[in-house]
Amino acid sequence: MTRPGAFLRQVHHRFGDPVTIRTYWTPEPMVLFSGPDAVRDVFRLDPSIAPAGRSWEFLRPFAGPHSILLLDGDEHLRERRLLQRPFHGESMRQFAPLVAELAQRELSTWRGPVVALERMRLLTLDIILRVIFGARSEREMLELRDAIESTLAGVRSLPRVMSMILIPRDLGPRSPWGRFRLAVERFDALLFALLARRRAEGAGSDEDSVLSLLLQQRDEHGAPPTDQQLRDQLVALLVGGHDSSAASLAWAFERLAHHPGVQARLRQGDPAYLDATVREVLRARPALTIAPRLLLEPARIGGHTIPAGVQVAACLWLAMRRGDLWGDADAFRPERWLDGPQGRPEPNSMSWIPYGGGVRRCAGAPFAEMEMREVLRAASGLTLRPARPAPERARRSMLVLVPDRGGEVLVD
Ligand code: HEM
Repeated sequence: MTRPGAFLRQVHHRFGDPVTIRTYWTPEPMVLFSGPDAVRDVFRLDPSIAPAGRSWEFLRPFAGPHSILLLDGDEHLRERRLLQRPFHGESMRQFAPLVAELAQRELSTWRGPVVALERMRLLTLDIILRVIFGARSEREMLELRDAIESTLAGVRSLPRVMSMILIPRDLGPRSPWGRFRLAVERFDALLFALLARRRAEGAGSDEDSVLSLLLQQRDEHGAPPTDQQLRDQLVALLVGGHDSSAASLAWAFERLAHHPGVQARLRQGDPAYLDATVREVLRARPALTIAPRLLLEPARIGGHTIPAGVQVAACLWLAMRRGDLWGDADAFRPERWLDGPQGRPEPNSMSWIPYGGGVRRCAGAPFAEMEMREVLRAASGLTLRPARPAPERARRSMLVLVPDRGGEVLVD
């Protein structure tokens, strides 16, 4: 769990594909697949026999009962349709200037040594609070930021999470679960107060945040969302979108610092090269390693019959890093995405899968890419150097992989 990149590489080298592993977070064994045909089979599994929500059960105390992360089947699809509406192209274009402004403000302070992960955690949280939660005043930002940080602090440390999984009981306010519960209660109180203010101001009539768009939702009977539903939607976007974006951006800075040639090309301002850089960061340093599903019935995957009662997972990390699937797999080379018809053929669509796939594919992918583009565009005026010559290795922080020194860069 502490060196997931090295672990996956060794496991693949020794045992090939597929491979069965056992982890501490699920009692069931997990079969990892990374070949394109098997990955497609995993993503096409019928949710009624392979619910993904069950794999995130441990998030329930924070995610809430209506969370898209925990729902499966028709309820999940219904929630997904509601949640995805604000993420269509038009809305993304509308939010980009605000994201760019927040990014420029942050990057204009970068001088000397910077730990990119720390700064990206703050920036991506500010972006979520402003653009998604629709926080307006400094006070709203401060209160929410603080409550979220103390909630997440409890589940970012590996020893704390281990003890919470081993002893899944609330043993009072000083125990890990007790502290976590109190932090969630404090966060909920602030969020419900924010929702009350936005409803009183008639938010939902304008479209200045994702929350305004969510307030316009109507169910099949024409009823607006309840506060609890909105709360669970905002938390799903926070849980899905905060650490994953911060980790991906920290990796982007770590990779750029080691590749001055890529920085020089980004400085020329070609949007196609910027897109290619974002895709290459997501390929070469995926923030999430697996997309798991729990099998309730036996299923055929990649020519193997897998029995009920095990977890099957598309291994995003291996699919995007296998030497037999990618030319020069370990190299960070945005150019690979620009090679014309004479160049390397387009990679198999089941090999570039940083957002997972099928009905559970990342609901925030357009937002994530817009955010990464805007941050890297804002950074293109800086000259970045690595703090040490060796590339950083991957370590786990809660659900995501981050650079082990946080993406230490020197800014000229
Ligand atoms: C670069 C950043 C991001 C990466 C690498 C990423 C990756 C992923 C992955 C791998 C999954 C699981 C897919 C599966 O099981 O097949 C997922 C789910 C999800 N992501 Fe993202 N994500 C990112 C950013 C975001 C952002 C910014 C948001 C929201 C604003 C978001 C919201 C979600 C949600 C709500 C789900 C659950 C979807 C469902 O269960 O139907 N993600 N993401």
